[in-house]
Amino acid sequence: VIRDLPTPALLVDVEVFEANAVRMAERAATLGVALRPHAKTVKSPELLRNVIGLGAEGLTVSTLGELRSLLPLTTDFLYGVPVADGKAGRVLEAIGSHDVRLSVIVGELGNLDGIPRDPRIDVVIEIDSDGHRGGIPPDDARLEELAEAIASRHRLRGVMTHAGGSYLVDRVDVPSVAVMERAAVVTAANRLRSAGHDIEMVSVGSTPTMATVDHLEGVTEARPGVYLFGDLSLVALGACAEGDMAMSTLATVIGSSGDGRRSFIDAGWSALSQDKGVPALGKDGGLGVVVPIDGAVGDSRLVVSSANQEHGLVTTREGGPTGLETGSRVQVFPNHACATAEMHRRVTLVANGEVVGSDLRPRDW
Ligand SMILES: Cc1ncc(COP(=O)(O)O)c(C=O)c1O
Repeated sequence: VIRDLPTPALLVDVEVFEANAVRMAERAATLGVALRPHAKTVKSPELLRNVIGLGAEGLTVSTLGELRSLLPLTTDFLYGVPVADGKAGRVLEAIGSHDVRLSVIVGELGNLDGIPRDPRIDVVIEIDSDGHRGGIPPDDARLEELAEAIASRHRLRGVMTHAGGSYLVDRVDVPSVAVMERAAVVTAANRLRSAGHDIEMVSVGSTPTMATVDHLEGVTEARPGVYLFGDLSLVALGACAEGDMAMSTLATVIGSSGDGRRSFIDAGWSALSQDKGVPALGKDGGLGVVVPIDGAVGDSRLVVSSANQEHGLVTTREGGPTGLETGSRVQVFPNHACATAEMHRRVTLVANGEVVGSDLRPRDW
């Protein structure tokens, strides 16, 4: 049972997780696009095998370590971080002799030297849809030149973007980021088709934009990732409900101050991360919401207000006594699930208060 686990421990409620996987697969089907979830949040091969079984058609990865561990799960991967000179050998080493299709992304001419020449490797142009990251803007005059350079050496499969800007806005503005995300890749794809390129992949993807976009005409696939775990940032952005948070950190209460207003747990930043989440969460959200096991997130007044490496300081939002007893167990729900999960190698799978399995998350690059 959960109560007997050594703490801190990363927990995933498999029922909530699978419900998240099914809901997004249905959403993608309704929007008429394939689903290529980003594996960087979950990483666990066992959990992601379920996600493939529940309707995903391929995976996105952000490290070669993820790629190596997930190769047995599907034959179609997109590596969503541009490569540069020096990485070609490592990309080939990661796929080994596997019969896969791997799409690598290119945002500028400088990325081309990192791309191995191999029939299994396709190239996808990264489009900058919101000024948040790299990539080439859809109206940039050099788009055709970049496509030409790619096509002279490799197979150009399509275009992709990630609307990371959806995390920086207020909840009410997420739909307009979603509109921009779709428009950016569709515009770029149409320009490249006019220039004679065969554009098979038109790929978008962030969890907030997938939650709000009203149509994805002209798009072929979506790559959300953090929806599988859910977190307080997504709740603040209206992209998931509190009850959809599948991931938490189990911790033990290790003491309290004399007045009972400050309690300490054995999960510090090395288990929770220091991520404060999105601006929409506000400034005083601390490092996560603390819920006694079997409690509901919505009822909790407790937050991790600060953390040292192995200590988390728990206080109430109003400054009253925490009511936590030394030795009792709590779950900490994260501001940003990707960052918290990244602090853990082992993930423990739970259902109805029972431990039902565990898996190791690949954490190498
Ligand atoms: C290239 C790329 N695609 C997809 C995603 C998934 O987005 P989200 O975490 O919002 O679901 C990310 C996240 O960082 C990304 O970088």
